[in-house]
Amino acid sequence: MLDGKKTLFSGMQATGNLTLGNYLGALKNWVTISDEYNCFYSVVDMHSITVRQDPATLRKRARTLLTLYIAAGLDPKRNCIYYQSHVSAHAELAWILNCFTYMGELNRMTQFKDKAAKHADNINAGLFTYPVLMAADILLYQADVVPVGIDQMQHLEITRDIAQRFNSVYGEVFTVPEVYLGKVGAKIMSLQDPSKKMSKSDENPNGSIYLMDDKDTIMRKCKRAVTDSEGVIRYSDEQPGLKNLIDIYRACTGKTADEVVREFDGRGYGDFKAAVGEAVAAILVPLQEEQARLAADKAYLDGIIRENAERAGYYANKTLRKVQKKIGFPERVRKA
Ligand code: TRP
Repeated sequence: MLDGKKTLFSGMQATGNLTLGNYLGALKNWVTISDEYNCFYSVVDMHSITVRQDPATLRKRARTLLTLYIAAGLDPKRNCIYYQSHVSAHAELAWILNCFTYMGELNRMTQFKDKAAKHADNINAGLFTYPVLMAADILLYQADVVPVGIDQMQHLEITRDIAQRFNSVYGEVFTVPEVYLGKVGAKIMSLQDPSKKMSKSDENPNGSIYLMDDKDTIMRKCKRAVTDSEGVIRYSDEQPGLKNLIDIYRACTGKTADEVVREFDGRGYGDFKAAVGEAVAAILVPLQEEQARLAADKAYLDGIIRENAERAGYYANKTLRKVQKKIGFPERVRKA
């Protein structure tokens, strides 16, 4: 615990184009809770290479993501915002934790099974041990809480198991993290298939609103969103497409579902879809402008990147040295 605050760790991959779902479901909440905790928000570029990446694209996306964290409202002086690959302790602890993780445990990971099926030509060992690197991320900073979506819960469970296993052998080395279950982030579904989560890897680009979409594109995608033939604006599971649009509108405007239903009572889907588009654009366009403004300030960003990597490295190495000592690696010899 630092300055009486608990520590929070989370990260996002710089693969694919971030969607409105990533923003409303995760990033926006990160900003809301950032005052309460000592926060480490990483751009987890080392996780990204578990599937093949084009080097220039990876570099560009990682920088865009880091800039987006700041543009969304995470103050980089108060939150540690950094690239995972800039802190080598992640790789070092991951190796050690690999030796405390069982094949059987990793074999049960549903995300591994899904990704292995999707990338059958490249089922590499990194894809298999992905959760161990994630455990290293979290445990290095002695994080108390980790905000993640449902799809990452299993990885958080294995992180807890690894931490407890290690602690039971060597004493209380790691804080055992809890999943952060605060105010639920909005769960945003695909605009084309409301039974699926809005995803950056969706093959149909009309299903997702990307954070970098311009206003015309946003309006068009909202207008084309799949609804139903009832023609009545209600908030109900029987109208999943409409329900998703109401959820998006709520998340963008802060209104409740009841308020939205009342606001559009007696009006058609066309009107409502246009209002959803406007509400989304009112959030994303300023975010894009701020992102572009920050991206143009190379000196500022480079300074943030350097300082935060150092800060992250300081905490991470503290934990790593403790772990190395506990497991019996020879002590470093300092110059007299
Ligand atoms: N695996 C996470 C995802 O794809 C990203 C991630 C990597 C992460 N390390 C983390 C999230 C540590 C939380 C904590 O969403």
